[in-house]
Amino acid sequence: MKKTMIALAMLTAGLAQAATTVTVDTAKPGPVINKDVYGQFAEHLGTGIYGGMWVGPKSKIPNTRGWRNDVIGALKKLHVPLVRWPGGCFADEYHWREGIGPRNKRPVKINTMWGGVDEDNAVGTHEFFDLVEQLGADAYVNGNLGTGSPQEMAEWLEYMTSDNKSTLPELRRKNGRDKPFKVAYFAVGNEAWGCGGNMKPDYYANLYRQSATFLKTPPAGRPKLVASGGNDNDTTWTEELSKSAKNMTDGISFHYYTIPTGKWEVKGAATGFPANEWFSTLNATMRMEDHIRNNVAVLDRNDPEKKLGFYVDEWGTWYDVEKGTNAGFLYQQNTLRDAVVAALNFNIFHDHADRVRMTNIAQMVNVLQAMVLTDNEKMLLTPTYHAYEMYVPFQGATTLPLALEGNRKYASGDKSIAQVSASAARGKDGKVYVALVNTHPSDAEEVNIAGVGDRKASARVLTANEMDAHNTFAKPDAVKPAPIAVQASGGKLTVKMPAKSVVVVAIGG
Ligand code: AHR
Repeated sequence: MKKTMIALAMLTAGLAQAATTVTVDTAKPGPVINKDVYGQFAEHLGTGIYGGMWVGPKSKIPNTRGWRNDVIGALKKLHVPLVRWPGGCFADEYHWREGIGPRNKRPVKINTMWGGVDEDNAVGTHEFFDLVEQLGADAYVNGNLGTGSPQEMAEWLEYMTSDNKSTLPELRRKNGRDKPFKVAYFAVGNEAWGCGGNMKPDYYANLYRQSATFLKTPPAGRPKLVASGGNDNDTTWTEELSKSAKNMTDGISFHYYTIPTGKWEVKGAATGFPANEWFSTLNATMRMEDHIRNNVAVLDRNDPEKKLGFYVDEWGTWYDVEKGTNAGFLYQQNTLRDAVVAALNFNIFHDHADRVRMTNIAQMVNVLQAMVLTDNEKMLLTPTYHAYEMYVPFQGATTLPLALEGNRKYASGDKSIAQVSASAARGKDGKVYVALVNTHPSDAEEVNIAGVGDRKASARVLTANEMDAHNTFAKPDAVKPAPIAVQASGGKLTVKMPAKSVVVVAIGG
């Protein structure tokens, strides 16, 4: 009996010592993580723009020229580098001329794409650029190929970027903007395989080439041109576009949404989900790695010079809409699970930093995997917001290779994912940052960080007791980052990661 007890004690002690080791190679810096990997997406969809961000200058909600001060203030802390607008599917029904000039004279249309509500065009080109300039972000404008024309896109670009005295820039000046706007990216259509026109890759590629021919700007104002690509397992769009549009584009876009059940008809709930949907969601989100790998393999074959970027310009979780909300508004709660999903994707994007040069999470406010939720004048920050905030030092940082040892599998049924996901980079401030995700819903994990010495380090953790822990307007701070201890000894650092957590460690200076 005594022997058994001792053996058991030894076994338990052994288990307690089990740890994952992350060895960082600081001597072999890799590619820089483009700041635009942390881009956002704001579509004319539900309350994503109207109500959630734009309330108009006459609103009682404090605002600057119509944009909510509380929401803009919160988003500024994320150092939002880039905002994609006006869609999404909406982009292929949007006619830019309807969104300029006096707001009370703009036409009211039906947003047939999202909820069938009236779209009064209050937010148009000038308002959008006011938003990005208030945020200190760059602009990603998505052109209309579906119901527009090469001429309409070319004229929009001229309106935005020209400094000539021709009619369109003069109209821009008349509408209150003297200097050209800076357009960082311009896309020709969106999801051409679906809502953008149900096209085939070769047909779209021809239209893309035709449109891109006429997208002329002054050399200093030239945006990166985006060819709208495929989604999910489909690499045919990347294949076609990287061959036939290679010399006329800067990158090919790609969309992948994480759906707990994998079925669009019943996607799964944002909160109160069963335990197996914690796993299925993380397992589904890890498919991003395969999708990027498969598409990058195509790019490497057709574009070995690495001229083209792979732009994941829509990604994130997509759940069943919250009960009682307009199904066309795609409003969903956001839990700790979403923060873990975000961090896993960041780590994947960092691993492919040479090709994945821009991404946009869908979407910024009140839609799908949002940073911010609002209810009239109230606002809360989601767990996903906090993941973005914790990862700010990775914007423009230089990736550092790492190796994982002792990383156990987190299994469910016949499937498994790694328990620990890690990413390391040297920030612009000279510090080494190590981001860690513990995917396991109930097992804590000790993580040793080697290769960085036992220098001074600090860390923050995002975690909670419940898998679906989330912030509400009544309890807006239920999930938020907190400091976590980092032990430095024997030439390494050690962090005891709680179950289901995201940790970012800042090392040295
Ligand atoms: O983000 C919501 C929608 O998802 C976008 O409008 C569309 O491009 C995608 O299908």
